[in-house]
Amino acid sequence: MEDELQRLRGEALVRLDGIDQSGDLEEFRVEYLGRKGLFSGLMKQLGQADPAERPRLGQLANSVKAEVEEAFAARQQALADSAGRESDKGLDISLPGRTVPLGRLHPVTQIMDEVCGIFEGLGFAVAEGPDIETDFYNFEALNIPPHHPARDMHDTFYFSESVLLRTHTSPMQIRAMENKKPPLRMIAPGKVYRCDSDITHTPMFHQVEGFLVDEKVSFADLKGILSIFIARMFDEKTPIRFRPSFFPFTEPSAEVDIGCVICGGSGCRVCKHTGWLEILGSGMIDPEVFKKIGYDPELYTGFAFGLGIERIAMLKYGINDIRLYYENDLRFLRQF
Ligand code: FA5
Repeated sequence: MEDELQRLRGEALVRLDGIDQSGDLEEFRVEYLGRKGLFSGLMKQLGQADPAERPRLGQLANSVKAEVEEAFAARQQALADSAGRESDKGLDISLPGRTVPLGRLHPVTQIMDEVCGIFEGLGFAVAEGPDIETDFYNFEALNIPPHHPARDMHDTFYFSESVLLRTHTSPMQIRAMENKKPPLRMIAPGKVYRCDSDITHTPMFHQVEGFLVDEKVSFADLKGILSIFIARMFDEKTPIRFRPSFFPFTEPSAEVDIGCVICGGSGCRVCKHTGWLEILGSGMIDPEVFKKIGYDPELYTGFAFGLGIERIAMLKYGINDIRLYYENDLRFLRQF
C-alpha cells in the first residue's frame, strides 16, 4: 500500500505539471481527488491493512493527498494568472481613450452671440432685463394703453392683470431711458413669450432689441445700421427690403424682410410663397414715448428695432421649421 501511495503521488504530480488548460485541470481533480477518485479508493483499502500498520499508513495517505491538493491549487493559480496575461495581450494601448462627450452651444445661442457681437462692434452697449414684466413696461409706457388693439397682436401670457411674461424686448427701451440721458446706443438680448406656435412661431423665442437716441438721428441712420448688420450676418448680396408697418411706439415704422434663403426667393412653405421672410420690426421712436420718460422730443430723436433670433438662425442654417430648435433632438442639434 505504501508503494502504491508513492506511485500515485509521483504520477499525480507529473500529470499536474503537464496540464495547461482549466478543462484538463478539472478532469484531473475528478480522477484523483474527487469523492470516487483514486486517492479515495486507496483510502478505502486502508481497512484491509495490518491493524498495527494502519495509523502510520493513514497518516502517510493523508499527507500525500494534502501534497497533491496543494500542487493542484498552485497549478490552478498559475493557469488563472497566465489567462490574465493572455487577455492583456488583447489590449491595444495605442487606441484612443474613451472621450467624455462635450456639450456645445445651442444653435440659437450661437446666433444670439453672433448678432450681439456685430452690434457691439458697431458701438452698442449690452443690457439685460426681466422676463417677467409689468403691464406698464411691456405696453403702457410703449404707447399701448389698455384696450389698444395692438395688444391683440401679442397673444400675451398673463400672471395677473398687471404682471405678464414680456412679449417683446421693447420694455428695455423704457428701462434704459429711465436711467440714462442721451446719447444712448444699446442692445437688449433676451427671451420673450407669446401664445403662438407654427412653423415660423414658437411660444418662447429670442429677440434682440436695439435703440439709438441722440440729437439729429434720422431714418437713414436706422437703415444704415441695419444694412450693415444684415451684410455682416448674411452676405453683402442678401436682398433686403423695408416694408411700411405699424408699431405704437415708433413712427414711422418698418418691418425688414430678407430674401428667403430656403427657396432663393421663388416661394416656399417657409416664406408663405412670398420669397421674403420678416426678421425684424423697426422705426423712429415715437415722440410720445420720449414724453413719457421725460426726454425732450424737440431735441432728441432716435430709432429702435427688435429682431427675432430664431428667424435669423433659420435663414442662416436653412432650417424650414422653427420648432426643430426646441425639440431637443440631439441628431438635429449635433449638426451645429
Ligand atoms: C416686436 O416685437 C417689436 N417689439 C419690434 C420692434 C422693436 C419694432 C423696436 C419697432 C421698434 P414683432 O411682433 O414683429 O415686433 O416681432 C419682431 C420679430 O420677432 C419678428 O420680426 C420675428 O422675427 C420675431 N417673432 C415674432 N413672433 C415670433 C414667434 N412667435 N416665434 C419666433 N419669432 C417671432
